[in-house]
Amino acid sequence: MLGKKWVIAIVLSIFIATIGLAVENKGAEKIQIDGGSRGAVPFNHHAHQERLGDCNVCHASFPQEPQSLARLKESGQLKSKDVMNKLCIKCHKAEKIAGNKTGPTTCSKCHIR
Ligand code: HEC
Ligand code: HEC
Ligand code: HEC
Repeated sequence: MLGKKWVIAIVLSIFIATIGLAVENKGAEKIQIDGGSRGAVPFNHHAHQERLGDCNVCHASFPQEPQSLARLKESGQLKSKDVMNKLCIKCHKAEKIAGNKTGPTTCSKCHIR
């Protein structure tokens, strides 16, 4: 029979592994962000996670849930184009000025129809 200590150790490691999996949810590798009338925005989610290192660069503005942008816009908590201007384009421009590799800053390079 397994001793009490072992049972506790096993239960504990399953518990920790479960938390580990929950924390590890990085979402989809690629996401088509809804870009309204201007067309969808294909977005390399995991590539940005690796480059930026910090989830909260973006997720301080919206939760780590599918369609969170659409929900916040619907409920009036997020203005249309705020993420685009204050996150995406702002960073891409700053990186460009700093002379680093950067992402697009023109409409048609992000939005596809
Ligand atoms: C450069 C911006 C950016 C960064 C950094 C970022 N995300 Fe996201 N994430 C997004 C966008 C955009 C969405 C899509 C939201 C929507 O569908 O409305 C999203 C959605 C998600 C979702 C919802 C599921 C899905 O696939 O749509 C999860 C989970 C998630 N992110 C986890 C993370 C984690 C964990 C990190 C850090 C390791 C991270 N994200 C870093 C932009 C980012
Ligand atoms: C770096 C990528 C990027 C560039 C460049 C960009 N957009 Fe966007 N755009 C987005 C993202 C992501 C969203 C969705 C999030 C939001 O509304 O902030 C969006 C949202 C929008 C929306 C509104 C969607 C809605 O219905 O809420 C319009 C309209 C739009 N963009 C037009 C433009 C125009 C016009 C330009 C050029 C002047 C442009 N975008 C340049 C990424 C970009
Ligand atoms: C804090 C900085 C930062 C933010 C925020 C950011 N990006 Fe980027 N993005 C980059 C950098 C840096 C690159 C280019 C890296 C390279 O080419 O090595 C890039 C590249 C891209 C590219 C080119 C394809 C690719 O992934 O290499 C697209 C498209 C793009 N970003 C869209 C977006 C959209 C849409 C958002 C907002 C939801 C966003 N980015 C937010 C830094 C950022």
